[in-house]
Amino acid sequence: MQSESEMTQGTETKRTARITFSDNDQVIELPVLAGSLGTDVIDTRGLGARGYFTYDPGFLATASCASSITYIDGDAGLLYYRGYPIEQLAEHSDFMEVGYLLLNGELPSARQKDEFVRTLRYHTMLHDQMAYFFRGFRRDAHPMAVMMGMVGAMSAFYRDSSDPFDPSQREVAAYRLLAKVPTIAAWSYKYNVGLPFMYPQNRLGYAENFLYMMFATPCEDYEPNPVLARALDRIFILHADHEQNASTSTVRVAGSSGANPFACIAAGIASLWGPLHGGANEAVLNMLEEIGDVSRIGEYIERAKDRTNPFRLMGFGHRIYKNMDPRAAIMRETCHEVLDELGLHDDPLFRIALKLEQIALEDTYFIEKRLYPNVDFYSGIVLRALGIPTSMFTAIFALARTAGWVAQWSEMVSAQGHKIARPRQLYTGMRRREFIPIGQR
Ligand code: SDX
Repeated sequence: MQSESEMTQGTETKRTARITFSDNDQVIELPVLAGSLGTDVIDTRGLGARGYFTYDPGFLATASCASSITYIDGDAGLLYYRGYPIEQLAEHSDFMEVGYLLLNGELPSARQKDEFVRTLRYHTMLHDQMAYFFRGFRRDAHPMAVMMGMVGAMSAFYRDSSDPFDPSQREVAAYRLLAKVPTIAAWSYKYNVGLPFMYPQNRLGYAENFLYMMFATPCEDYEPNPVLARALDRIFILHADHEQNASTSTVRVAGSSGANPFACIAAGIASLWGPLHGGANEAVLNMLEEIGDVSRIGEYIERAKDRTNPFRLMGFGHRIYKNMDPRAAIMRETCHEVLDELGLHDDPLFRIALKLEQIALEDTYFIEKRLYPNVDFYSGIVLRALGIPTSMFTAIFALARTAGWVAQWSEMVSAQGHKIARPRQLYTGMRRREFIPIGQR
């Protein structure tokens, strides 16, 4: 078994890639590296010295790092966290175990889990001064705007855990982020609807505590429904990490400059907010509500297929999954469970979603482009059934993804030979020209 550091570095193979040029006899040989699973990479680090850059806007075929955290096989529809298949984690584990696994590389023993849960529990409260920050936002501010601001503001309060190159400070920052982001998310909702903040309860589990902070009021007791809490915990597991997606890459690039962990996670929240990324779950619900009836699905499918129309079928397609996103399949199952538990199995939006999925998967456009439902397609329906307002869907995605972002950030800053991310470009602007005084323009 390769050591952790070897796995994170990749292994030189005996193979090399040879680049030849049609207009001269230059030959460039580059090493080919293999990981423990997945696609081999051509190590192009030496290309700059040979006078070339690679060109890959959108990073469709670029490995930005070596990582041992999450593995995805888009063709086979596989997703592993530290080697464990997502289906097994979703069924047998909980978010606390998954958070520990992502951060430490191994599933916790019972004792390790108890210690992890207890440590997080005593980090769930915010510095009381931070409660005043919420008041600076408009009441109708989008929860993601509030989360971005509040998590970034943690840089101003937790300076004793902000040095990314100090392992003990990295550990405390990880605990603080995993523990406080749910409080920030729930309070951004409470602030939105003008209700008092509810403090975290040490007697409750992670998902229960979030539901408590979201829906309890000072006027009466509130006990989270265990079935709904379990469904929410599973949603956290499914969204916890996903290799080098846009927001994780944002966290890595921000962190590569040595920025403090809270600033890096705030940057990740900013990127996740986009409707093509984590904002898709909110966009899916808005789209299903706009469709309104199964009779109108065909109209939206046609719009999505029209290349002159920027409309995309939200919740479909993925950069990597060219098969069903394994998380979408689990989410569809969770949907059935939650809607049955709540007696909402005739939920009209769920019916539209099921019909939309069936029609899309039979349409040649979607088949040819290998567009399948992704994790966001069903998550919005489950969250809505849990009573979570649509505006909070991406905030919940960010809450869960904080575990992955922190694990990836920590792996990046502690990697051997860590370097600041500094891509180059293909310059297509004006060649040198001389300044023209304004009187002569
Ligand atoms: C997430 O990267 C991750 O891992 C992300 C994520 C994670 O866990 O971090 O999995 C979470 O972000 C899931 C994706 C949520 N986004 C959406 O559901 C928004 C709708 N989907 C699309 O915007 C799109 O599919 C992306 C952004 C997800 C992927 O875009 P790509 O890989 O850049 O692919 P593309 O846009 O180049 O599409 C390829 C073709 C295009 O047609 P052509 O230009 O080749 O003719 O497929 C078409 C696209 O027009 N297409 C769609 C479509 N998605 C792609 N057409 C209609 N509807 C869609 N949803």
